[in-house]
Amino acid sequence: MIVSNATDKTVKKLLINGQSHDVVIRSADLLLDTLRSQLGLTGAKPGCGNGDCGACAVVVDGKPMHSCLSLTIEAVGKSITTIEGLQDSPIQKAFIENWAIQCGYCTPGFIMNCYALSETYPDADDETIEEWMQSNLCRCTGYQEIKEAVKTILQIKKDQRPAQ
Ligand code: FES
Ligand code: FES
Repeated sequence: MIVSNATDKTVKKLLINGQSHDVVIRSADLLLDTLRSQLGLTGAKPGCGNGDCGACAVVVDGKPMHSCLSLTIEAVGKSITTIEGLQDSPIQKAFIENWAIQCGYCTPGFIMNCYALSETYPDADDETIEEWMQSNLCRCTGYQEIKEAVKTILQIKKDQRPAQ
């Protein structure tokens, strides 16, 4: 955690999972810390702290971001989605049904990345899925199960499209 000057505090609004929250921000505060310690949104996990593991992933204006490297101040005025905003979603169900979870520490990050992928490239092929999932690390489950969960979600999205 970067400790910033206590005198540069300011109150700003953050839009998270469709709800506006007042937060006290200092210029060097990281989004991961703001989410977890001020708002109790502990789904995004601290892992490597340097952008390698993806455990801290959230989606900001449709793009997956490493919240351990994102300044909170830069998220003001943007739409933030965290794993808490995807509670009971088909994506969570797909991860469970494909056995894509063991200890679960990496899972919120994978799910957020999968969510952004499914919104951005609903027709993603295997190569694209592979590329996107490279920004997340898992130490216990097989990556194959995770890829199957991602494919399940993309298929659900396809099936939901109105016939042309
Ligand atoms: S904790 Fe952010 S990428 Fe690892
Ligand atoms: S399920 Fe344990 S690190 Fe991925």
